[in-house]
Formats: sequence, C-alpha cells, structure tokens
Amino acid sequence: METANKDEIVIRTVDLCKTYGTLKAVDHLNLEIRRGEIFGLLGPNGAGKTTTTLMLLGLTDPTSGSASIEGLDCTRDSLAVKNEVGYLPDNVGFYPNMSGRDNLIFSGEMNGLTREQAGERAKQVLERVGMTEAADRDAGTYSRGMRQRLGIADVLMKQPRIIIMDEPTGGLDPQATTDLISMIHDLSKIEGITILISSHDLYQIQKISDRVGIFVKGHMIACGRIDELGRQLQNEGLYMFDVWADRNGDSTWDKDLLNDVRALPNVKLIGRKVDGTIHVESSEDVQRGLEETLLRHNYTVREMHRQGGDLDEIYRKYFERAEAGEKGGKSNGRSKAGADAGEKRTGSDERPSKIRRGLSRILGK
Ligand SMILES: Nc1ncnc2c1ncn2[C@@H]1O[C@H](COP(=O)(O)OP(=O)(O)O)[C@@H](O)[C@H]1O
Ligand SMILES: [Mg+2]
Repeated sequence: METANKDEIVIRTVDLCKTYGTLKAVDHLNLEIRRGEIFGLLGPNGAGKTTTTLMLLGLTDPTSGSASIEGLDCTRDSLAVKNEVGYLPDNVGFYPNMSGRDNLIFSGEMNGLTREQAGERAKQVLERVGMTEAADRDAGTYSRGMRQRLGIADVLMKQPRIIIMDEPTGGLDPQATTDLISMIHDLSKIEGITILISSHDLYQIQKISDRVGIFVKGHMIACGRIDELGRQLQNEGLYMFDVWADRNGDSTWDKDLLNDVRALPNVKLIGRKVDGTIHVESSEDVQRGLEETLLRHNYTVREMHRQGGDLDEIYRKYFERAEAGEKGGKSNGRSKAGADAGEKRTGSDERPSKIRRGLSRILGK
C-alpha cells in the first residue's frame, strides 16, 4: 500500500539531548534515517549510542529535543513506536530453560498471536536466521552468536519494517560477526527493512552501512556515506602524510629536519611507524612545505602518501583517540572492544593531552 520512497525519512531526531547530571550523554543530535537503508551509528564506548536507542524506543525520555519514527513521537507515542519497531538490545535475554523455539513462541503469544500462528512464524524466522537445527535445544546452552541470532529471530516475530540494533556484534568471534553482518545486510537489502545499527565496530559495520554517523561524546561529528566522510575530514582540516625519505640511504630524520617540519603550519604530530615511514599530521595541507623542507635538508622523497578519507584513518582519528582520551581521563569501563582498537594504534608518540587537543579541534571546542 505504502509507496516505497527511498528518500523518505523514517527515523528523525531534532536537537535530541539527554543529560545525566552535568554529563551530556547525547547533545543536540540531528539524525535522519531513510526508508530501507542501513544506518550505522558508530562511536566508541560512552559515546551515547545506547542512550540514543533508548530514547528512540521511548524507554528513556529526552531532556530536550524530539525523536520520531514513522511520524510517531518516540516519547508521547512510545507504545505505538514499540509496536512498529523491532528492537535488539545490547544484551538480549531469553529463558534459559526453554528451547529457542519456545522462547519465540512465548514472545509471539505475548504480542497477541495464537499459539499456532506463533509456532508457524517461529518456524519461518528460525529458518531465516539459520537456527533450525538448534531450535529445540535450551536457550541456556547457546553460544553468544546463537543468542544474537535468536535475538534477531525474536525481533522478526513482529515482522517489523524498522529494526534498531544495539551493538549486535558485541562479544562475537570474527566468523560469527561476519555471519551476523551478512544476515543483517540481507534483511535490509532483500526484505527492505530499515535498520539502525549502533556499534563501536567500524570495520564490520561499514561493510553493510549505506550511511554512517560518527558519534563521539554525545556529538555527531560526521555523517554520510563512507566516501563522503573522507571529504568531510579534509574539510575539517585533517591532513595526514606518510613519508618515506632518505639521505644517502639513511631514512632516519635528524633533529634539524624534525624541528623544521614541526615549524610547518599547524603540524600537530610527527611519529615514526614500525615500517620506518614518518607520519606527519597537520590541520593544513603542508605537502609542498614538507617536500621543500626535505629537499633543503638533502633528503630524497621516495614515497609520500597523503591520507584522509579511507576508513582506517577515520577509525584511527575518531575512535582510537577518543578511547585513548577516555583512558587518560577515567579508569573505568574500558571494554574489550576498546582494548582491541588500542592494539591497532600506530607506534607514534601520541599522549592523551595531545589526543584530547586533537579531538577538541575536531569537535571545535
Ligand atoms: N542511567 C545513566 N545514568 C548516568 N549516566 C549514564 C546513564 N546511562 C548512560 N550514562 C552515561 O552516558 C554516557 C553515554 O552512555 P551510553 O549511551 O551507554 O554510550 P554507548 O552506548 O555509546 O557506549 C556515558 O558516559 C555513560 O556513562
Ligand atoms: Mg552502548
């Protein structure tokens, strides 16, 4: 009946805010999610992703601003919203002593289906998520990956046209993550379901997201298609260079050279990578200056790679720094995910204060 308008906005937030005491967990979030797309709400721990999803489902009230789904106000019409939207929370729970199938049937009956209807639909959705074989085992025996699949099956029992998932790949091993991600992709692309997926897992989520929003400390600092984000990064003045240069075969940069490179406009960071290349960052495009400085010091530039825009860089910029900043600021709650991200950090001489300054620059504060 409904006309499928691809540009139609189905989820919208307008200056959505949530404060806890003095903490701005979500700060003037403006989000528009279109019909049929997969939107990745990406951010490190503590960014405000869960708080946002809770407000969308009317499970917590905004401090100010508003959110709507299919034109329904998420706070005032929260019951209608819950009927409309499938929600996979970050830790989905099932009755451990009931089989996966019985859990689904129970949930279907709670949502007004007869036992027969619930049984029939449970059969379909179990097949859909590849859980038919394990369906009659107690849910308490399931692996985390199976529980997540059952979680999605449970969401599908309602036949929703919109699904909100909070960290669906959290705690999954790489294979289970890949499987789940491809299933989520199919739900959107084959069945036309609009999906909002919150995650810290940029690498996985970008594979399937039509658009992503990068969320740090309650702020959406960038939003768009992955390739667009690259341009936004450059517009925000983040230029990164990996330089391999040598003088008579020696690729170490002497002190004089380093001082002169540091004196280039707005150079924020210089570091040596494990492969021997030198990494230089500036809020200006210092490529010409870099080349000239190297030449003046009798270095020959073998390779110079200007970065910006590819996902690795976005990840490094926004996520790892934010998490490193977190670590410097407070000691609690650094998840396994944060630790994983930390391992990917380059061997440069970043310090939390510098990192924070970098982030403030990004955030314009
Ligand atoms: N009920 C609460 N009371 C106080 N602070 C909270 C509450 N829920 C979340 N926070 C804080 O709000 C911030 C955002 O949290 P959250 O939305 O859970 O982030 P994410 O899901 O991105 O990890 C964090 O600093 C967190 O500690
Ligand atoms: Mg969360």
